[in-house]
Amino acid sequence: MSAICLNGVRKGFGDGSRYRRVIDDFSLDVATGESVALCGPSGSGKSTMLNLMAGLLPVDAGTLTLRHEGRSHDLSRLGESERTALRRRAVGYVFQFFNLVPTLTVIENVALPLALNKFGSRLPEAQRRLEALGLGDRLDAYPETLSGGEQQRVAIARALAHAPAILLADEPTGNLDARHSEQVANALFAEARRLGSALVVATHSAAVAERADRIVELAH
Ligand SMILES: Nc1ncnc2c1ncn2[C@@H]1O[C@H](COP(=O)(O)OP(=O)(O)OP(=O)(O)O)[C@@H](O)[C@H]1O
Ligand SMILES: [Mg+2]
Repeated sequence: MSAICLNGVRKGFGDGSRYRRVIDDFSLDVATGESVALCGPSGSGKSTMLNLMAGLLPVDAGTLTLRHEGRSHDLSRLGESERTALRRRAVGYVFQFFNLVPTLTVIENVALPLALNKFGSRLPEAQRRLEALGLGDRLDAYPETLSGGEQQRVAIARALAHAPAILLADEPTGNLDARHSEQVANALFAEARRLGSALVVATHSAAVAERADRIVELAH
């Protein structure tokens, strides 16, 4: 069963003569429980692809379908607010540059997707996720007081908090040393497996890409 299905997807930026295609006639199927590494040089469209899958950007042509709780949703037919509602429930996203909320503490950031989805017992679950990523002693810290690698791990805990069917991660180990890279990659792949989520990871790291079931190379 495919969790994410792209068919003939096109995406570009600018308009008229300044329109530049970044993704052209791209098709991809990611099964439930499958992991895919998106690789390719800087500027090849990895982040753009994840933004399309998350419904943050609309496709210019083609179809993009996400499966959530037994139903298929064609993002190319949904408006922005419907895409946002679906993303909140179905998608966990680890952004390349974290996007943590600066006015919330670490534990509040991780509890946020649980609160938005009106889940119960938010803080214990958020705490458990953070402890698993070695951040149990930073629960009440504010993001700006954390190192880049620590913020990265908070972003991962937050993406996993609501047990999403679709997990997207953009350079999740981009800011980490070898030990924490390993820890973060372990957490990401193990949790995706445990939850049965489809996982798509954009990465420049061969060590991370090798963990995926499949590698998809984007050409420049
Ligand atoms: N909002 C935007 N407006 C105009 N151009 C954009 C926009 N977003 C991305 N692009 C362009 O699309 C191309 C692909 O960008 P993208 O961020 O997807 O690359 P990437 O593969 O993630 O690169 P990196 O490995 O450096 O993160 C780049 O040439 C970029 O300049
Ligand atoms: Mg990128």
